[in-house]
Amino acid sequence: MKTLFDLRVKQTEEMVEAVKSIFEEPLKIVRLEDPITPCIGCWNCWLKTPGICVMKDQMTTSYSDYVNSDTVILLLDTAQGFINHQGKVFLDRTIPHYHPYIDLVQGECHHVARYERYPDMVFHYDLEGLTDQEETVIEDYLVRMAFHFKSKAFRLVGNGSLQLQPLKNRKANNHAIAFGSTDPMDRLVIYNGSPRRSGSNSALILEEVQKVLGDRVEMRDLKQEDQWEQWAEAFTGEKNVMFFMPLYVHAMPSHVMGFMEKLQASAGGISFFMQSGFPESSQSHYLEAYFEQLSIRLGRTYLGTAIKGGMESLQMRPEKARTSMMEPLVKAIETLVLKGEFSTSDIHQLARPVRFGAGVQMLFKLVGKKFINSFWDQKLKANGAYEKRFERPYRA
Ligand SMILES: Cc1cc2nc3c(=O)[nH]c(=O)nc-3n(C[C@H](O)[C@H](O)[C@H](O)COP(=O)(O)O)c2cc1C
Repeated sequence: MKTLFDLRVKQTEEMVEAVKSIFEEPLKIVRLEDPITPCIGCWNCWLKTPGICVMKDQMTTSYSDYVNSDTVILLLDTAQGFINHQGKVFLDRTIPHYHPYIDLVQGECHHVARYERYPDMVFHYDLEGLTDQEETVIEDYLVRMAFHFKSKAFRLVGNGSLQLQPLKNRKANNHAIAFGSTDPMDRLVIYNGSPRRSGSNSALILEEVQKVLGDRVEMRDLKQEDQWEQWAEAFTGEKNVMFFMPLYVHAMPSHVMGFMEKLQASAGGISFFMQSGFPESSQSHYLEAYFEQLSIRLGRTYLGTAIKGGMESLQMRPEKARTSMMEPLVKAIETLVLKGEFSTSDIHQLARPVRFGAGVQMLFKLVGKKFINSFWDQKLKANGAYEKRFERPYRA
């Protein structure tokens, strides 16, 4: 079976017909209407009901079409130089199809497959309004995401007559522009991009930042969607802003993209901070590459991107360990505010390891894998879900 998921705002019949003409067998067409409910990082799909998402919406009813297809075709819209929030929600919400368990692949952490096979992923996105660099950033991102999701990646290019191109996994084109600087900041607006309702690592870190910097920082939680119009309007007059977020499927959580789509070009500084579950910072490079391009698009001085991996366990740590874990992140933001620029040596330090070398990969195989995966097993047991951990709920 091949399924076409149409995630576009304007779901034109011409494009669907053009895609149909590429594939010999009939396609199942699933039109996903905006909005799909964003992932809230609750981990129920891993730890309470293995493989099953708590959300009950059109996405949930499409899971079996996804898992039982040999090919899925995703028709995506772009916005602000990246795939739009609707495309991003779709990708975030595929996380139940994988285990929390971890394996190392080419020096990077990957989630272990829940299903014995996954569909090839075929992407189409419109090039209108994209720079060449943005087009590459999107493609790099989609290929990396598909690689992690154990799918082969293809792209449909062209608008009228389409061609199917196989895509190869490759490194991100990050560090294309250098970190800039500005005056010491009287005020920095920080947008918190964590979707979590409780137990958010970002919230803990930003609380510490607020303690240290007081009213020189203003926190805005992007979960407050009713404030978006007002904040997007204020953005054009804001001298310095930072987007702070957890990494979701190698990019921003979908609601962060939803807000970013509303931003207009304006003067001022812009900076980014990603914290993530896996320890290696290369996980975040595809998003870093996008944020560099976003700064150009928004006409703002790019003050840089800080990346810190290995943060998922922060909320579970005793207070003292938690404070010392947060300390370098808080310091990086403090330096940015007080000096008007990141300390590049601090940022390099935070980003270590970039990838794992051969020695760590060997150690991981011998002991690390067992140790990390037993952490998830304990949680599954505590929830009475351990026996169901290998279930494949959507396999026909
Ligand atoms: C849907 C989803 C996707 C994620 N994708 C990644 C990823 O690609 N790489 C990574 O290192 N961590 C990933 N994480 C882990 C989060 O970045 C990490 O748990 C983070 O500390 C959560 O921060 P928060 O509590 O502030 O939301 C993902 C988490 C979720 C829920």
